[in-house]
Amino acid sequence: MKKGLFVICVAALLATGCKSTGNTEEERFIEDLLGKMTLEEKIGQMNQLCFDQPLDSIKAKIRAGEIGSMLNIDPKLIDEIQKTAVEESRLGIPLIIGRDIIHGYKTVLPIPLGLAASFDPQVVEAGTHMAATEAREEGITWTFAPMLDISRDARWGRIAESLGEDPYLSGELGAAMVRGFQGEHLSDSDAIAACVKHFVGYGAAEGGRDYNSTYIPETLLRNVYLEPFQKAIEAGAATLMTSFNDNDGIPASGNDFLLRTVLRDEWKFDGFVVSDWCSMSEMMSHGFAADRKDVARISANAGVDMEMVSQTYIEHLPQLVAENKVPMEVIDNAVRNILRIKYRLGLFENPYAKPGKTSTIYCDEHLQTARRAAVESAILLKNDGVLPLKEGQTLAIVGPMADAPHDQLGTWSFDGDKNRTVTPLRALQTDEYNQVKYIYEPGLDYSRDTDTSDFERVKSAVRRADVAVVFVGEEAILSGEAHSLSNIYLIGAQSELLKAVKSTGKPVVMVVIAGRPLTIERDLPYADAVLYNFHPGTMGGLAIMDLLYGRENPSGKLPVTFVREVGQIPMYYNHNNTGRPAQNEITPLEDIPLEAPQTSLGNTSFYLDSGKDPLFVFGYGLSYSTFEYADLNLSSNEVSATDTLTVTATVKNTSVVDGTEVAQLYVRDLVGSIDRPVKELKGFQRLFIKAGDSQTVTFKLPVSALAFYGRDLKKKVESGQFDIWIGPNSAEGLKGSFTVK
Ligand code: BGC
Repeated sequence: MKKGLFVICVAALLATGCKSTGNTEEERFIEDLLGKMTLEEKIGQMNQLCFDQPLDSIKAKIRAGEIGSMLNIDPKLIDEIQKTAVEESRLGIPLIIGRDIIHGYKTVLPIPLGLAASFDPQVVEAGTHMAATEAREEGITWTFAPMLDISRDARWGRIAESLGEDPYLSGELGAAMVRGFQGEHLSDSDAIAACVKHFVGYGAAEGGRDYNSTYIPETLLRNVYLEPFQKAIEAGAATLMTSFNDNDGIPASGNDFLLRTVLRDEWKFDGFVVSDWCSMSEMMSHGFAADRKDVARISANAGVDMEMVSQTYIEHLPQLVAENKVPMEVIDNAVRNILRIKYRLGLFENPYAKPGKTSTIYCDEHLQTARRAAVESAILLKNDGVLPLKEGQTLAIVGPMADAPHDQLGTWSFDGDKNRTVTPLRALQTDEYNQVKYIYEPGLDYSRDTDTSDFERVKSAVRRADVAVVFVGEEAILSGEAHSLSNIYLIGAQSELLKAVKSTGKPVVMVVIAGRPLTIERDLPYADAVLYNFHPGTMGGLAIMDLLYGRENPSGKLPVTFVREVGQIPMYYNHNNTGRPAQNEITPLEDIPLEAPQTSLGNTSFYLDSGKDPLFVFGYGLSYSTFEYADLNLSSNEVSATDTLTVTATVKNTSVVDGTEVAQLYVRDLVGSIDRPVKELKGFQRLFIKAGDSQTVTFKLPVSALAFYGRDLKKKVESGQFDIWIGPNSAEGLKGSFTVK
């Protein structure tokens, strides 16, 4: 780099590194400590290790001040290791101990995609708070969650860990997770630091293959992918993790535009940034860094404060500083950011685990929290009247997921004890359900099983029962990180199992327990009802029974579009329109006449073999109640950018059962300086409505919430006409319109 240019860059870095003002007690503490640290000790704070070497060697490094954080270590060792840092290192700076507490620690909640289906920030906050309480009790002070990657591709295994396809929903629930993990004060005994990840665009991996490159232009990045991160940062997220992917050729751990311009300058983030696991050294595979020294230089200057695992900082930063290739101020600011969060966590005063008088792990309250979350996370996709089940019916319990205690916990649950999992089968053995008569005949041992030799036994069991409940889905290992699939039908012989059960003529309830939205269109004819559960966690079995028996009324809504066929992907509700949107029913492939003329099917945008529509739209979900929407009312049909529009509608429970409906508010900006999505979620509310009653739902929509980054890359509301809907999902609803002056 030319010298002049280097000086300009350094000046820019200094301006954007969260330099301390030194005027609060916190900042004074940090400055004081920083002043005592050697360069090596500072760089040590920027180094995070996992347990990849003998304990003695880890301890020696901690003693020498070479480690600032450890991740995913055996919780039993936390205090011992912490003691080495606090009592045996020169400055006694405590470690921040990170762990992937993604959807519960010991008591496991539904996977995040399931939590998202609740459309319930309170349940999400309560669940994550429960996780934080259990984790902090054991000395864990930092989680690598929430994952806020917008996921529009069900092949991508990590869709399981996401909050779905919508930026507004992900932002609202992501903020709820941050509040849940971090509690009132980070230093409380029930709080841990959150880490929003993966910054950014990771969910847009080409082809849904994990770690793949992304190509997201800045307008889309800002209007969709960054929105949930910004909301989570505004909610106070303490830390942020860079992603593995390169976007438009720039790996996230080397992207100073994202880490300095957006995160620090625009969003004023004052926590610290950690890389993902070796995502820094992987910049060499990307072809973005020549060697490990180059890696350290690029990431430090880009704004990665702490390096996860790959250790290029500890190896090369001293030399890079000596050579003036990484300014000292960059190091100081990174360390300030890290110390700030350690300080806020209260680690300097209370470095050790905080067990209460009695452990909260698996306590009743936590089990109930997990059960409620699982109830609200289930989505009823189809019901021809077989549900709810009736007392006195004999059930045939079939399928590999009826009793899969490990798999029901889903991806990222290293700490959940499968012996504590209440599977659907185990639920039937509890006091609450032991009056139910059932015959258990799984038919398949696990989801990938292709051995159909037990199917005759299954059929005979079903014939002896009144209703068959078939539990199908995916093992936990089939979704999550590095577990992408190119085929997302029910795996193994599960579709055949369903057909075999249906051939008996008995009513069939299909209960799916999976990590992603599977392509189940071909299975629907063989099920009279479908209840979909994204891996529902420790209490999933009881929650499912509560729902099947109508002790709870389903209220979950889809946080992602369900496609008919994998070839439709990407398909998401908030897409832009083509110039030729498909309008009508599509001619089925087999009905196309031979030698039909070229334009006979119309020149519009659809697939010959799977049409234009998904199987189930975003926001869809049934209930045992039925709801009717009426009387859409807008406080004004003409508003200005500073107004707040009040939009109301009446929602009536037209059934004989009490139920909860998630009313959803969508808008469309009809003409923009860039094309705008055909619909965008701008609000949702869970309404509990007694049988026969009506409720008015009121949304306050600040017109500023219609702002977007347009052609000039400035965020603003563009004047013009808007459509607006209140409805039960992204495809239906009452429609109105208004004009922004
Ligand atoms: C994942 C992160 C996770 C980290 C630590 C990485 O492989 O991408 O999401 O937090 O490992 O376990």
